[in-house]
Amino acid sequence: MSQRVTLLRPDDWHLHLRDGAVLRAVCPESARHFGRAIIMPNLVPPVVTGAEAEAYRARILAARPPGSGFTPLMTLYLTEDTDPEDVARAHASGLVTAVKLYPAGATTNSASGVRDFDRVRGVLEKMAEIGCPLCVHGEVTDPEVDIFDREAAFIDRVLDPIRRATPGLRVVMEHLTTQDGVEYVKTSRDGTLGATITTHHLIINRNHLLVGGIRPHYYCLPVAKREEHRLALRAAATSGDARFFLGTDSAPHTDANKESACGCAGCFTATNTLPLLAHVFEEEGALDRLEGFASRHGPAFYGLPENTDRIALTRGATPTAFPARIETEDGPVTVFDPGFEVYWRVDG
Ligand code: NCD
Ligand code: ZN
Repeated sequence: MSQRVTLLRPDDWHLHLRDGAVLRAVCPESARHFGRAIIMPNLVPPVVTGAEAEAYRARILAARPPGSGFTPLMTLYLTEDTDPEDVARAHASGLVTAVKLYPAGATTNSASGVRDFDRVRGVLEKMAEIGCPLCVHGEVTDPEVDIFDREAAFIDRVLDPIRRATPGLRVVMEHLTTQDGVEYVKTSRDGTLGATITTHHLIINRNHLLVGGIRPHYYCLPVAKREEHRLALRAAATSGDARFFLGTDSAPHTDANKESACGCAGCFTATNTLPLLAHVFEEEGALDRLEGFASRHGPAFYGLPENTDRIALTRGATPTAFPARIETEDGPVTVFDPGFEVYWRVDG
């Protein structure tokens, strides 16, 4: 028997669209289903100034399919040289929705990130004053810290001190991967802390990445953790708690760059995210909470209106056939394979 759910049109609160040929190929994949997306600024070179964000936004708008209403919400890449006044101008004009903090060296294209957090104090104070949220890549980069412990260490060493030193600063912990992260977010009761959760971290744990051969298409940062953490993320995402919302972290890399002796981090999920989420929420008996996670909690945190149109998902009798890869002029990009059949599809 087929089953149908409708949702306010969802938004993606953490998305990598890249530039050039990859942007042109992947932008339609997000534009098909999502109303808006927070666009990550980790290009090479990164999107640091308001002027760079404006130019990148124009390139994204040009990559949308004809007639698409998909709206990119731009972010600036925080560096130790970021000018608080440039951030304030770009935010006041509506061009920029948030600022992104990458600890230097934490992930793909993060070399320009922050080393000394005291050097960004002025920007953070300005952001707290004007109500511009900070999106954080929550991993320390200290080589002494085990990669599986880097999110928990970031909370104690960096995030909690920043939040205490900057009262009122609104922070999104991006792509949460641990129970520690879930618990820390739940300690916030004043609306200043939220977290995005990806689709793939609800589906894979570190065994999927490493058992029976190394699976480069499951390698992302923060790296998938133990099963107990995946279960904590599932519980948070499906709980109805408005502090948790969808940020796919869909992060395209060409197959040549993934299937390599030093493969890039990132799972490309834009194409099949919503059917996968319907599958996960159905498994958890929480289909009625999918709309909160994908369509309502994000706008509430960012102080933006919800989308007004709706999309429908149908559970069919036969598995949905998703493309295995998206072709780009730079080479193919493999679509995330959940490793099980999915019967949900987005109508239309
Ligand atoms: C992202 C990318 O490829 O830009 N990779 C990833 O594994 N998520 C960067 C990031 O968000 O860490
Ligand atoms: Zn990301």
